[in-house]
Amino acid sequence: MKSTLSRRNFLHTTMGVAAAGLIGMPASSVRAQQIPDPAMKDSTPLNLSFGIVGVGMQGSGLLREAVTIPGIKCVAACDLYDERHTLSKEIAGAGIRTTRRYQDLLDSKDIDCIIVATPDHWHKKIVIDAVRAGKDVYCEKPMSHSIADGAEMVKAVQASGRILQVGSQVVSSPLFIKAKEMIAAGKIGKVSLVELAMGRNDPNGAWTYPLPPGLSEDNVDWATWLGDTPKRPLDPVVFARWRSWRAYGSGIAGDLMVHLLSGMQCALSLSAIPDRAVASGRQIRYKDGREVPDLHLVLLEYGDMIVSVRVTLNTETPSVSRFMGSHGMIEIGSRLTWTPQLGIDLKPSYYDGGFPSAMRGAYEKQWHAENDAVIRKLPAVDNVEIFESAPSMDGRSSHLKNFFTAVQNRTPVEEDVVFGHHAAAACHMTNQSYYTQRAVTKEMAL
Ligand SMILES: NC(=O)c1ccc[n+]([C@@H]2O[C@H](COP(=O)([O-])OP(=O)(O)OC[C@H]3O[C@@H](n4cnc5c(N)ncnc54)[C@H](O)[C@@H]3O)[C@@H](O)[C@H]2O)c1
Repeated sequence: MKSTLSRRNFLHTTMGVAAAGLIGMPASSVRAQQIPDPAMKDSTPLNLSFGIVGVGMQGSGLLREAVTIPGIKCVAACDLYDERHTLSKEIAGAGIRTTRRYQDLLDSKDIDCIIVATPDHWHKKIVIDAVRAGKDVYCEKPMSHSIADGAEMVKAVQASGRILQVGSQVVSSPLFIKAKEMIAAGKIGKVSLVELAMGRNDPNGAWTYPLPPGLSEDNVDWATWLGDTPKRPLDPVVFARWRSWRAYGSGIAGDLMVHLLSGMQCALSLSAIPDRAVASGRQIRYKDGREVPDLHLVLLEYGDMIVSVRVTLNTETPSVSRFMGSHGMIEIGSRLTWTPQLGIDLKPSYYDGGFPSAMRGAYEKQWHAENDAVIRKLPAVDNVEIFESAPSMDGRSSHLKNFFTAVQNRTPVEEDVVFGHHAAAACHMTNQSYYTQRAVTKEMAL
């Protein structure tokens, strides 16, 4: 009797999952539901002026996107490389101010907020100076260049009361926001395992970018670009492909894995530094003087949940985030697929093949008497649901819109300084584990 009751209770608690059905259909035969972009629903009128620091590959994309948002105006752009002043004016108009000194932007009364898209080794100083100067900041990922830098940034931002949004735009993607709602509603039960993966297979994807022609000390302030890293002569390879050196970048962990982890933190409403990181990695294809691996396999432990991450620059594979729980799975690739599971027996156990016939017959009779009525009541409908968002919704425009709306209304952002610190910290622990060839605990890393 006791066991029957507890099974009923269990079924009752899983009815949300049961409602999605028992009878399987292949995902390909299920029509996808379209999800609108939540950020675009907010119609708060915006009236803000911003400046941008770092107008290279990512900064130029952010600038192009930001100036299309109604009510948002760029008034100044800062870069150490003069050609990027020309580029900034091409994008935002000849009337904007340009400078090599980001401090000029911080001193400007007509600038409400700034976007920071410099290499990683400059994030901390610019962010801290900016919030102390009273500016709200959109800072590119990975937020920090070390765990200690991240902790300093958290302190400074919190003490200033300013807003900081970190630039892992995936957290504003409708698919991840949908996953967050579904997981919070218990659609897959308790999540114990997450698999994250992505892969590229082209030199461009491995940061072998074209070198800017004519780069010289006349058109770039190289001494400032180096910041507090060791002095070295101007090298166009380092200028363009800085991700390959630990002094400026954070390897494939900080460059790519951080996006996967930010999506995971968003979907799970989780903001924490992992308890332990174990990373394997290799330099397989790109032996071009870089200091970082081109392949990583990583295990991260968060309480009783384990996360496996695979990032490679040697084979093109889809980006996938798979959340596995006691009541099913949510997989996000180019769309979101929810596969509910009951996690219960629907027929007598095959273990009874080891019972002689009388014993087997009695066991099966009792099993059916205890379970059949409940199982019959479960509706039989499709057992997967698929959600899609418009192809253009990679999250970047929504993420910028979320930032500007937060600045205007003084409301929280999707990806604040603590969230960004935690996602970056997991990447720094991964690198520490890879370089020391040891598991790294939170206590060792902090
Ligand atoms: N969110 C994304 O999907 C995404 C994509 C690419 C890059 N990023 C991030 O954006 C940042 C920039 O990457 P990138 O590929 O655009 O680099 P980049 O080298 O193309 O551009 C960086 C620019 O910053 C300038 N700069 C460097 N130090 C400066 C300083 N102190 N003051 C002013 N300007 C300075 C450089 O001159 C350069 O023009 C990195 O943190 C990177 O991880 C994010």
